[in-house]
Amino acid sequence: MASTCHKLILQTFITFLLMQTLTAQNSNLFREYIGALSNGVRLSDVPINSFIDFHFILSFAIDYTDTTSPSPTDGKFNIFWDNTTLLPSQICSIKQANPNVKVALSLGGDTVNGVPANFSPCSIDTWVNNAVISLTSIIQEYNLDGIDVDYEHFNTDEATFAASIGQLITTLKNNGVISFASIAPFEAVNSYYSVLWRDYASVIDYVNFQFYAYDATTNISQFLSYYDKQSCMYIGGKILASISTGADANGLSPANGFFDACTVLKKEGKLSGIFIWSADGSKADGFPYEQEAQKLLAIPY
Ligand SMILES: *[C@@H]1O[C@H](CO)[C@@H](O)[C@H](O)[C@H]1NC(C)=O
Ligand SMILES: *[C@@H]1O[C@H](CO)[C@@H](O)[C@H](O)[C@H]1NC(C)=O
Repeated sequence: MASTCHKLILQTFITFLLMQTLTAQNSNLFREYIGALSNGVRLSDVPINSFIDFHFILSFAIDYTDTTSPSPTDGKFNIFWDNTTLLPSQICSIKQANPNVKVALSLGGDTVNGVPANFSPCSIDTWVNNAVISLTSIIQEYNLDGIDVDYEHFNTDEATFAASIGQLITTLKNNGVISFASIAPFEAVNSYYSVLWRDYASVIDYVNFQFYAYDATTNISQFLSYYDKQSCMYIGGKILASISTGADANGLSPANGFFDACTVLKKEGKLSGIFIWSADGSKADGFPYEQEAQKLLAIPY
């Protein structure tokens, strides 16, 4: 009897150790971009599961003039997100009602008033200086917690991008202005973000990899191989799985098995979270994928 019992205890202990190892990278972080389409979507429209960590990411703050023909400002950021629904008072309310919610802003994005939003610093020093001052002011006014970096077009080389963004994140963290930072690369811009990762991985908390930039024919096994490939590109990074809910959605869709793929990653202990681009795109359908993603992340295994 005693030996059977000891064997059972030993087995339980080994299972426990295995589970600890297997679930090492799993996290229950859900992130949602909001505000880029200015279609009136509100923070309070989006379902929030109280058993997970939730980040809203305001889209976008851009270092361009806020005019009809925007032009680069060498790091002086302006707000380009929906300024009718994403106000400081509404951010305060959503945080008060949901202690598990944090709010970030995203830098850059694809376009500004229909033209590419280029990363165009005059010099690293002036850009970083201007960015620290303008972003600190916005972050404090809106009571934000972090930043996301989503430049998709570049007027500079990789080294300038990496040094500018790396110094910006480091300074904002050292000044206590933000508590987390993420990057949002995709295959076509990996040359820029991989240099940033090489030199500044220690200050980057999450990788919002845009898996929806892959082809719309992507199947589950391809998605899983892309996930592994990017895990090798951003070694040690917390890489989030992602879908797009807009009209132009590509990549592995929920209809083609996105959530099955997430379940595979979770069982392998690799799922560092899920993000959705975007609340604006999900509004018309009532946010079914936001609910499904958060439910999956809330399951404890
Ligand atoms: C809100 O944004 C619009 C453009 O989207 C701009 O014309 C307007 O000045 C902004 N209002 C405020 C109060 O910032
Ligand atoms: C996924 O797509 C690849 C490339 O088209 C194909 O070789 C593979 O058989 C597909 N896998 C499944 C399970 O359909």
